[in-house]
Amino acid sequence: MNWLGLEGKTAVVTGAGGGIGQALARAFAGQGARVALIDRTLERTQPLAAELGNDALAIACDLSRPEDIEAAAGQVDRHGGVDILVNNAGVLRPGPLDSVSPADWSMMLSVNLTGYMLAAQAFGKGMVARGAGVLVHVASVAGSEPQPASGAYSASKAAILMLSRQLAYEWGPKGIRSNTLSPGLVRTPLSEAFYADDTTRQRREAMVPLRRIATPDDMADVALFLASPRASYVTGQDVVVDGGLTQSLMGLVPRPGYA
Ligand code: NAI
Repeated sequence: MNWLGLEGKTAVVTGAGGGIGQALARAFAGQGARVALIDRTLERTQPLAAELGNDALAIACDLSRPEDIEAAAGQVDRHGGVDILVNNAGVLRPGPLDSVSPADWSMMLSVNLTGYMLAAQAFGKGMVARGAGVLVHVASVAGSEPQPASGAYSASKAAILMLSRQLAYEWGPKGIRSNTLSPGLVRTPLSEAFYADDTTRQRREAMVPLRRIATPDDMADVALFLASPRASYVTGQDVVVDGGLTQSLMGLVPRPGYA
C-alpha cells in the first residue's frame, strides 16, 4: 500500500498551476504527502489546494524574483519544513538564436535555470540543516538534444542537468539526493499549440516509438519514485521519460533497401 513511503512528507512543487505541476501535486497528495503549491499567481493553485486538502498550501511566488523565493521558503518552513522539492516551473518562448533578444534570453534563464538554483538554495537550507531531503528537477530532452527556434530553452535545460549533478555531488554528504526528470513530448498548456492541428499531432505521435504523446501523469509517476525512499541510492542521474523519442535519430536517416 505505502510502498513509496511518501506519507507525511512535505513536498514543494513549483509551477504547480501548470499541466505537469498539477499532476505532480495530485500525485504527491495521493500518496499522503502534504503539498505546497507554488506558481506566479494563486489562480489555479488555490482551488487545487482546496481540492487536495491535507493542509495543502498555495503560495504566489514569481520564481524570477529571489525575494519571492525567500518569502515562499519562509512560509513553508513556518509550516514544518520541506522534505522534497520538485523544481518544475518553466517557460518557453519561440525564436531562433540569430535574433533572440537579450531580454527574452535572460527571462528564460532566470525562470528555467536561476529559479531552480535559488529554489534549491532556499528550500534546501532546512534539508541541509536536518541532513535529509530530495530534489527532483524537471528538465527536458531538449537539454541533451538541441531544440531549434526556442531561444534559450535548450541551453537552460542543459544547464539544469549539470546544476542537478553538481548539487548531487555537493549535497550528497549532507544526506540530500538530486536527480533530473527529462520529459519528451507531453500535452500540456505549454505545448497545446502543437496539438491543435491533427496532422501535426499525428506526425508527432509517429516520431515516438511508443506511438503516443505523454500525459502529465506519466511524468508524475516517475517523479514520485525519484522522490521516494525507493530511490534512496539514486542521485546525480537524469531519467528520460520520452517513450523512446530520443532513440529515433538513426531511423530518420534514409537508407535505401532497409525499409
Ligand atoms: P505549463 O506552462 O503548463 O506550466 C508551467 C507553470 O510554470 C505554469 O503554471 C506557469 O505559471 C509557471 N511559471 C512560469 N513562470 C513562472 C515564474 N516566473 N514563477 C512561478 N511560476 C512560473 O508547462 P508544463 O508543460 O507543465 O511544463 C512543466 C515543466 O516541464 C517545464 O519545466 C517544462 O519546460 C518541462 N517540459 C515540458 C514538456 C512538454 O512537452 N509540455 C516537455 C519537456 C519539458
